[in-house]
Amino acid sequence: MQKVAIITGVTGQDGSYLAELLLDKGYKVHGIVRRSSSFNRGRIEHLYPSHENVGSLFQLHYGDVSDIASLIKIIKEVKPNEIYNLAAQSHVQVSYDTPIYTGQVDALGVLNVIEAVRILNPSIKIYQASTSELYSGDPEQTPQNENTAMFPKSPYGVAKLYAYNMVRVYREAYGMFISNGILFNHESPRRGENFVTRKITIAIAEILKGKRDVITLGNLDAKRDWGHARDYVEGMWRILQHDKPDDFVISTGETHSVREFVQEAFRVANERYGSNLSIEKHVKISDRLIRPNEVKELHGDSTKLKEELGWSPSISFKELVFEMVHYDYEHPS
Ligand code: NAP
Ligand code: GDD
Repeated sequence: MQKVAIITGVTGQDGSYLAELLLDKGYKVHGIVRRSSSFNRGRIEHLYPSHENVGSLFQLHYGDVSDIASLIKIIKEVKPNEIYNLAAQSHVQVSYDTPIYTGQVDALGVLNVIEAVRILNPSIKIYQASTSELYSGDPEQTPQNENTAMFPKSPYGVAKLYAYNMVRVYREAYGMFISNGILFNHESPRRGENFVTRKITIAIAEILKGKRDVITLGNLDAKRDWGHARDYVEGMWRILQHDKPDDFVISTGETHSVREFVQEAFRVANERYGSNLSIEKHVKISDRLIRPNEVKELHGDSTKLKEELGWSPSISFKELVFEMVHYDYEHPS
């Protein structure tokens, strides 16, 4: 029997890689997209043959996780086996500017998905996109695993903690197959342009082409456990193929500061393009980009996922930086 999946957040970085993975595995994939005044499907355009796309293995439906009626309509129509709930206002700094909206989407939006499934067909499996922003990131609390205390530092993290706990509540109360993937930062050439890694690699390409002189950044001392999104969507899929619902950390276990990311990206650019980029000459710090509060250090321990589901990352930090620097040089946005 062909499996049917719904992906919310299909137009995002992870949604696009996950759609590719599931289509490769023979799934029929239904993506939920939001109406927007300018087209927001650049990451998935290559996956559908026409805007009508009726009858293809990849179909799009208008909907929004803050609108439970739209979710009920789509779930009733497509009868999925699995739902990957990736939709979110996913920018931590923006969550300080829009805390209520972030709560409506990242907390109550998740409950809408879960409730719709409970009402319509509680046997549908659900993957919830949880995050390392659930942790405090205090250095004495590293490395973080599934048992580490969760004390988020941002409105985004708090909204995601509500969702994380609601997943556990529905699993225990109703016996639903619903799992959290606690994902540490993951990047790619498809990363949104206002997340730090992509901001850096786009700026490098522009400096190399003489379009600007500096990159303006905030906190260079924050430490993140960065992996590649393509590896991480494989982890999401494995979590839903497990014989029981559970919560899993997905991380590389290798941590670098933002400063180290910049240094490695400059090193790649200097080696490949003969430039002489340096933090002293090409990075400016702006207070505007310093957050009201910050998760200082993320360093994930994904032993559980490795031991129970055989997952491990295949792309190293250096390979990730190399791919992003080259992509942005070759494909100016
Ligand atoms: P992303 O690129 O920002 O994509 C977010 C997706 O959610 C987009 O498709 C967006 O649609 C959609 N969306 C936003 N609000 C929505 C709503 N109200 N209804 C329906 N769709 C909505 O994020 P990502 O990096 O792919 O991350 C995917 C998920 O994993 C998110 O939940 C994020 O919080 C979580 N996560 C990400 C990371 C990471 O490092 N990337 C780590 C841990 C957890 P538009 O295209 O229309 O904006
Ligand atoms: N965005 C951004 N822009 N971040 C900057 C900048 C800048 O100019 N300068 C320094 N930073 C620092 C941030 O303060 C943060 O410590 C770090 O770079 C990473 O920032 P982001 O790339 O915005 O990611 P994030 O860690 O806040 O959040 C991402 O990872 C979470 C998982 O830990 C997002 O993908 C979240 O959705 C995800 O849950």
